[in-house]
Amino acid sequence: MSIFKDGILDGKVAFVTGGGSGICKGITRAFMAHGANAAIVGRNAERLGAAAAELERETGRECLAAPADVRNPKLVEAALDATIERFGTIDIVVNGAAGNFLCPAATLSYNGFKTVMDIDAIGTWNVTRAAFERRLRDHGGVVLNISATLHYSATPLQAHASAAKAAIDSLTRSLALEWGSLGIRVNGIAPGPIEGTEGMERLAPPNHKDKLA
Ligand code: HXC
Ligand code: NAP
Repeated sequence: MSIFKDGILDGKVAFVTGGGSGICKGITRAFMAHGANAAIVGRNAERLGAAAAELERETGRECLAAPADVRNPKLVEAALDATIERFGTIDIVVNGAAGNFLCPAATLSYNGFKTVMDIDAIGTWNVTRAAFERRLRDHGGVVLNISATLHYSATPLQAHASAAKAAIDSLTRSLALEWGSLGIRVNGIAPGPIEGTEGMERLAPPNHKDKLA
């Protein structure tokens, strides 16, 4: 059952990073069930292809698997171009690609911090900037950034992910302000803990309390 009108997204095209798994696969499924076609982005092409086939079977809409690492602007641009070539447009961009692990700040390496900033924050910028250039600036659209609530206060073992999600929230506000007049709506979603996802597998493993000692 849906609270939305049937076919409310008919003719729309969504570009969803992280759409091959977890929360963003669920978001893609919901968009497609309401009429949109979609492209899903991740690094693991095999998993992406299987997810795209599954979403098509479930919804009767089209889903393009567009493998790319969001840290690489050239690969992001190629994935956006492939989506526009296939569907003619992009109306909705979801920035859900993320990386995370539990690690005390005291032992987190330079590269460990940078990696999560690169995937979550820089990746969100890379995708949004390239989509703006290709489509959103001249046609308007929607950008939806997937954040978290970790950084609203402080969360142990999550200095890297908290910093990255805070950067994403800041970007959401800046772009909503600068691009609103172009007909681009920029919003964020901050999920709480969602059972059965990779995120929760990583953040609440059976021994997670030991790591705080
Ligand atoms: C400490 C770690 C680490 C760990 C990696 N690193 N895992 N440090 N503890 N468990 C360090 C490495 O040692 C390395 O630093 C650096 O991070 C990069 O590691 P790589 O393995 O080379 O990176 P890469 O192959 O790019 O993989 C990125 C990744 C990986 C983030 C490390 O876990 C990944 O691909 N994750 C994607 C899936 C995911 O995380 N999903 C959950 C999202 S949930 P050095 O110094 O050794 O070079 C989420 C929840 C938010 O975001 C909030 C929930 C409430
Ligand atoms: P997930 O299934 O691991 O989703 C992360 C996705 O990002 C994967 O599909 C992964 O695919 C992709 N990804 C990771 N690094 C990438 C990169 N460099 N380039 C392109 N794609 C990349 O985790 P999830 O738990 O559903 O989380 C989804 C989103 O919700 C994330 O933004 C997360 O921070 C947020 N969130 C989750 C929770 C929760 O409880 N789970 C709570 C708050 C916020 P590949 O591995 O194939 O690249």
